[in-house]
Amino acid sequence: MEYVKGNKKVSDSLTEVTKLLQYKDINGVNRLFGGRLMEWIDEAAGIAAIRHCGGFITTACVDTLQFKHAAYLHDLLVIIAKVTYVGRTSMEVRVDSYVEDCKTGIRSMINHAYLTEVCVDEEGTPIPIEYGLELTNETERAEWEGAKKRIEIRKTRKAEGF
Ligand SMILES: CC(C)(COP(=O)(O)OP(=O)(O)OC[C@H]1O[C@@H](n2cnc3c(N)ncnc32)[C@H](O)[C@@H]1OP(=O)(O)O)[C@@H](O)C(=O)NCCC(=O)NCCS
Repeated sequence: MEYVKGNKKVSDSLTEVTKLLQYKDINGVNRLFGGRLMEWIDEAAGIAAIRHCGGFITTACVDTLQFKHAAYLHDLLVIIAKVTYVGRTSMEVRVDSYVEDCKTGIRSMINHAYLTEVCVDEEGTPIPIEYGLELTNETERAEWEGAKKRIEIRKTRKAEGF
């Protein structure tokens, strides 16, 4: 079978985090500090992965992280994490970050990233994930297919050390 079915859906672990940007989040050029956003992205991806696998996780890899636009003081930031792929012990999670216009509700993407989260035991050893991913629409199927290509690229990178 091409896709694992009958276990958890993407919507079961979907994680949305909202932040109001404060002075402590802003860098020397009056924009959101990138490291702060990366922390929130890692946290949102981790929560989605925990919800999917139902256990401990650790982040193995963050890639394709792209800062597309800046965010500023008092912006409303919305961070959405979705599981895109489930392997034997690892999950890929896509995280999209938006600035939401509080008057119109329109969201503009400022960042997206793919993270690999590994399900681990209390000693940090990878363990099999008990739930597959039930894909319910074309977008989720396209993400799954994309994940397979990204995983091949990651394996090549790891093997060749670049
Ligand atoms: C992530 C970690 C548990 C993987 O351990 P490992 O001994 O390489 O385990 P394996 O080779 O069995 O890989 C386990 C899974 O992780 C995936 N994986 C491992 N390294 C990866 C990497 N660099 N990128 C993407 N996926 C990776 C493997 O493909 C495998 O997935 P699968 O079971 O779904 O096929 C280990 O490298 C680790 O503990 N790293 C530190 C994690 C950490 O501290 N994170 C917090 C950052 S501050």
